[in-house]
Amino acid sequence: MPTREQVLEALKDVQDPELHKSLVELNMIRDIVVDGSKVSLTVALTVPGCPLKNEIQRMVEERLLALDGVTEVNVTMGSMSAEERTALFGGNKLQSVPLLSPQSPTRFIGVASGKGGVGKSTVTVNLAAAVRRLGYSVGIIDADVYGFSVPRMLGITGKPTAIEGKILPMPNPYGLKVISMGNFVDNNEPVIWRGPMLGKVLQQFLADVFWGDLDYLFLDLPPGTGDVALDVARFLPGSHMLIVTTPQTVAAGVASRAAHMAKKSNQKIIGVVENMSTFVCSECGKATPIFGEGGGQKLADELGTELLAQIPLTLPLREGSDNGQPIVFMEGTENDAARLAIEALAQRVVQLTPVPARA
Ligand SMILES: Nc1ncnc2c1ncn2[C@@H]1O[C@H](COP(=O)(O)OP(=O)(O)OP(=O)(O)O)[C@@H](O)[C@H]1O
Ligand SMILES: [Mg+2]
Repeated sequence: MPTREQVLEALKDVQDPELHKSLVELNMIRDIVVDGSKVSLTVALTVPGCPLKNEIQRMVEERLLALDGVTEVNVTMGSMSAEERTALFGGNKLQSVPLLSPQSPTRFIGVASGKGGVGKSTVTVNLAAAVRRLGYSVGIIDADVYGFSVPRMLGITGKPTAIEGKILPMPNPYGLKVISMGNFVDNNEPVIWRGPMLGKVLQQFLADVFWGDLDYLFLDLPPGTGDVALDVARFLPGSHMLIVTTPQTVAAGVASRAAHMAKKSNQKIIGVVENMSTFVCSECGKATPIFGEGGGQKLADELGTELLAQIPLTLPLREGSDNGQPIVFMEGTENDAARLAIEALAQRVVQLTPVPARA
């Protein structure tokens, strides 16, 4: 018959999918009673109507039934008291340093491009997932308020939970913390706000979302060096920029505009990512430079920065985007040329923007 400690040990890896912390650590596992081969307990959720209730219950049951000598599990789903909730969100268990405070160790990385359709969102989502797989705590803001595509690329649907005046990031199977305008509008309704309100959205995503402790926060920016890119510069003056381009001749003026903006706002361009560098055939592995060659290196030279990666066009990367799966989480793609380039890019980005060790 398992002890109380063994029960807690078995559950220590079960995380609250929105808070990304262990249920045990959050003191959510209560009233443990072991009676022969039967274990009963209560899970005290943050809010009673938690949309992830069934998922959490399933995970708890699964772990306990895997314990030696346990044949029956009785999980009651309860909720925390208002005082407990306030203490949890106001305390430092979930967040040791506020995201926007000067002491925040979080690295902000904006992903920008001169023109649309070059693969910013694909790069943002897949790079973020690859950095996550390196063991970091990673968030994504889909700052492309009109043309949001991050939820689709991660298979995220539904609306976020609001709690204690904060919005919780959207749960997903990859352990990423994600927020997008797409989570607030119904059925892909068009967003018709104008400039100043768009600025507020970014501000709210930064200030009102409960990010917890983050190592990296990636921002998928709308194409061009427009209002949102300027807002990022304004709200996150120390942030880093990745510029995505295709190998085709770069639209005139993009490089100098981006460089000028970054300089003015104390943003650092950490490098250029060339996407769709070649098409790699999944049958024969042959690489064809269908969009030409040299655009990434040329842009990097103009910006006085590094060409960090050349990501080829591959079928699995496109399929993953459409099916809501980052390629680094797709089984059987370990040798895919785009995946290898993205994994190497993740290593390089982490090297260039190291996070300080947390106390
Ligand atoms: N390397 C790649 N291999 C295969 N497909 C890719 C690759 N890069 C991008 N794609 C596909 O190309 C399309 C456009 O990419 P994506 O949406 O990431 O571009 P974007 O720059 O974010 O566009 P927008 O300017 O509209 O925001 C998507 O369908 C995506 O799946
Ligand atoms: Mg996009």
